[in-house]
Amino acid sequence: MTERNASADSAEKRAAGIAASEVVESGMIVGLGTGSTVAYTIKELGRRIREEGLEIFGVVTSYQSEMLAIEAGIPLTTLAQHPELDLAIDGADQIDSNLYAIKGGGAAHTREKIVSASAKHFLVVADESKTSTRLDKAVPIEVMPFAKELVMKKIRELGGEPELRLALRKDGPVITDNGNFILDSSFGVIKDPEGLALQLSVIPGVVEHGIFTNVNELYVGKKDGSVKIVRK
Ligand code: A5P
Repeated sequence: MTERNASADSAEKRAAGIAASEVVESGMIVGLGTGSTVAYTIKELGRRIREEGLEIFGVVTSYQSEMLAIEAGIPLTTLAQHPELDLAIDGADQIDSNLYAIKGGGAAHTREKIVSASAKHFLVVADESKTSTRLDKAVPIEVMPFAKELVMKKIRELGGEPELRLALRKDGPVITDNGNFILDSSFGVIKDPEGLALQLSVIPGVVEHGIFTNVNELYVGKKDGSVKIVRK
């Protein structure tokens, strides 16, 4: 598991994150994703609210995005109050040319999937290192602690190698915002993301896995500050 630095600064992430914020219009209810790339979007939306009078409500996907949104001054609402969102913007850990994505490097993919599935349009922001011709990163799978052994067995039966994600500044496992564990599960090259997504979803005790098949649009930030847009 590579180390994660969700606050890492990068011109590519900044370019993609800020370009995506330009899609947001007054009156929209916007899903606010988690991670270092969409953090630029959140900060930029805060600036537009302060300086341009943009009027939106955000729905957060984690404690991290809640803290960033509050700091940026974005008024927040909930899925209970606004079950249908106009747009959701979020990062990804890996995304292929069909816009299948792996998410969950920050253990936030369960709420990210719920929020993005509640949106009419799901836009992913990423730097070039996230794009790939194939999906081969480990898939983060959020599991109920009670079900860990059963889920690990089922993942192995599907050809995967699950590894319990351990915390860096706490002894023992990462505990998600929902109180669960994460199993980072390698499947080699994932030839059929939709099929694997369905197989993982039916395992008892799996709360949510990090394969996303609902991305509509991708903004890829480049080193020169330009942004490549890919639509499904
Ligand atoms: C959070 O669990 C993830 O799904 C993030 O959205 C994803 O890891 C992208 O994060 P970065 O923008 O920090 O790479």
